[in-house]
Amino acid sequence: MERRKFVCEMLLTLMTLFHILLTCVDSASASGLGRRNLLANGLGRTPPMGWNSWNHFSCQIDEKMIRETADALVSTGLSKLGYTYVNIDDCWAELIRDDKGNLVAKNSTFPSGIKALADYVHSKGLKIGIYSDAGYFTCSKKMPGSLNHEFQDAKTFASWGIDYLKYDNCNNDGSKPTSRYPIMTRALMKAGRPIFFSLCEWGDMHPALWGAKVGNSWRTTGDINDSWESMITRADMNEVYADLARPGGWNDPDMLEVGNGGMTKDEYIVHFSLWAISKAPLLLGCDIRNMTKETKEIITNEEVIAVNQDPLGIQAKKVRMEGDIEIWAGPLSGYRVAVVLLNRSPFRNSITANWDDIDIPTKTVVEARDLWEHKTLKRKFVDKLTATIDSHACKMYVLKPIA
Ligand SMILES: *[C@@H]1O[C@H](CO)[C@@H](O)[C@H](O)[C@H]1NC(C)=O
Ligand SMILES: *[C@@H]1O[C@H](CO)[C@@H](O)[C@H](O)[C@H]1NC(C)=O
Ligand SMILES: *[C@@H]1O[C@H](CO)[C@@H](O)[C@H](O)[C@H]1NC(C)=O
Repeated sequence: MERRKFVCEMLLTLMTLFHILLTCVDSASASGLGRRNLLANGLGRTPPMGWNSWNHFSCQIDEKMIRETADALVSTGLSKLGYTYVNIDDCWAELIRDDKGNLVAKNSTFPSGIKALADYVHSKGLKIGIYSDAGYFTCSKKMPGSLNHEFQDAKTFASWGIDYLKYDNCNNDGSKPTSRYPIMTRALMKAGRPIFFSLCEWGDMHPALWGAKVGNSWRTTGDINDSWESMITRADMNEVYADLARPGGWNDPDMLEVGNGGMTKDEYIVHFSLWAISKAPLLLGCDIRNMTKETKEIITNEEVIAVNQDPLGIQAKKVRMEGDIEIWAGPLSGYRVAVVLLNRSPFRNSITANWDDIDIPTKTVVEARDLWEHKTLKRKFVDKLTATIDSHACKMYVLKPIA
């Protein structure tokens, strides 16, 4: 009896020690990587969602269009789903700063100024983003960049009520992004307003390795365009860095092209599914004042959005590739797993996800929810799940162990 009690106590002590050890490891990685960064603005606990002007409008932007977009985010119900950032990209400012060196909104297109626009966007319950560049000029060369004006510009942005800054890398002085970007980080910290900092140095210096100390997201690729080839290669390049994404700091394969017309419906579903499972920012890039039913159906899929916004914040990986057949998978909260079965080939194919590949213990019985059919499949699955998938299409599931 005594002996048994002793063994029990020993076991308990060991378990407690083990628990303490785990907690230490956990908090060490959290503070070392996530929280104790330069920026520490508390933003981006889940990937940012919203809209950006560039993919559809490039430089053809003005305050009326931005206001209408804010209106549309609300009237379409998109803002309720989480799409709350209204982000103005390049070309919003005059080429010449004012006599105090401040950036000024372009009079011909933003006559009311950015502060008034920000107030309007905020009055709708939304947030506003703006764009600058870690160089002398932005990529369009139609407005100044913030190089050597970081502290002044960050103050200006904060005084206007800006909530998000996309910071590009054009026309710089040839020095490394790792020396230019952290200056804006410090400037934003001193600006007196939490501003989501989106690093856009195109993946040149592997920002996934240093971005979490500097910003809330970092581009891992050059610009996307509205084609299957461009989209799928952005997803590939971004996947390499999966282990480095975490709440507060996300890999960014660039903004969405869904609704711009260059891909089929199935291809746009692949685009949205891969961005969601990769915990990429979901920044719409179409004209949301005027979407087709099909576009709306894709970007309002709440089940797919929930995968993107899952509190664990773990980016999926390609866990198996066989030619043009791929399985992407990653864990979700509640012991669930998100899976995309992807057919990149020109032909219809049968694709199988094996539990071995997606980190579900063998023999586990699993319930499968098809996120695009919005159906929980009647049959239960053990050890694998197989589906037939059209060319340039995918299936997306959430798998939930039930026994
Ligand atoms: C802005 O444009 C308006 C009309 O186009 C003009 O009257 C006004 O003087 C301009 N303001 C500045 C500061 O250039
Ligand atoms: C889009 O990107 C693809 C692949 O990155 C490239 O081959 C193509 O030329 C681009 N198309 C346009 C119109 O820029
Ligand atoms: C809406 O879409 C139609 C058809 O594609 C197009 O002709 C029209 O110009 C669009 N309107 C706006 C405001 O973009």
